[in-house]
Amino acid sequence: MTQLLIGTIVESEYELAKEVVKQAFLGEEHTDGNEHELIGKIRKSPTYNAELEVVAKTESGKILGHAMMSEVTVNSDEQSNVVLALAPVSVLPEYQNRGIGKALIEALEYRAYENGYIGVVVLGHSEYHQKLGYHIASDFDIYTPFEVPDENFMFKYLWDHPTKEIRGTVHYPEAFQ
Ligand SMILES: CC(C)(COP(=O)(O)OP(=O)(O)OC[C@H]1O[C@@H](n2cnc3c(N)ncnc32)[C@H](O)[C@@H]1OP(=O)(O)O)[C@@H](O)C(=O)NCCC(=O)NCCS
Repeated sequence: MTQLLIGTIVESEYELAKEVVKQAFLGEEHTDGNEHELIGKIRKSPTYNAELEVVAKTESGKILGHAMMSEVTVNSDEQSNVVLALAPVSVLPEYQNRGIGKALIEALEYRAYENGYIGVVVLGHSEYHQKLGYHIASDFDIYTPFEVPDENFMFKYLWDHPTKEIRGTVHYPEAFQ
């Protein structure tokens, strides 16, 4: 494969990225088929940060993958903390299993770390995300407000020695409703 470039999405790529997301989720079993609409909704959220939306493309500019992170809060009786949700992650079906998803996620994690975020939640494939250092969120006392299998809801601290422990139930903003 030619060199893969990972960079912040620009507005002229919005439509192509939407198509990549749509294609990626077409064959997926656990999907509501609306992930391509979700990315547009997240962009309208007041806390949207374009630095946390990336595309993977070839040197000629063909978009092969897309991923984004956005703010959610984790609330308990004692505390409320902002973390990031990794959603969605999409790679064109014919380019899957070549490390593009991993490269997108690692690029976002680095940006999130640089921006001072403590951790990331993800609702995804347990085997896939655990390879990337995510763990079952309930092991950290972090829960989803949705009914999903425990193993599919995961969390990762971005710091080796986080300044605080995150605990509670995740509150997703309106874009996810
Ligand atoms: C899930 C997805 C983003 C992974 O991206 P990808 O570029 O295909 O994955 P990578 O090449 O980075 O895979 C890295 C590793 O995970 C493995 N892997 C890939 N997809 C996997 C899956 N669904 N379950 C378990 N392991 C998986 C790969 O075999 C590879 O293993 P290796 O490092 O031992 O070789 C991509 O397959 C996709 O777009 N799927 C449809 C949409 C989706 O389900 N998104 C995730 C939920 S938001």
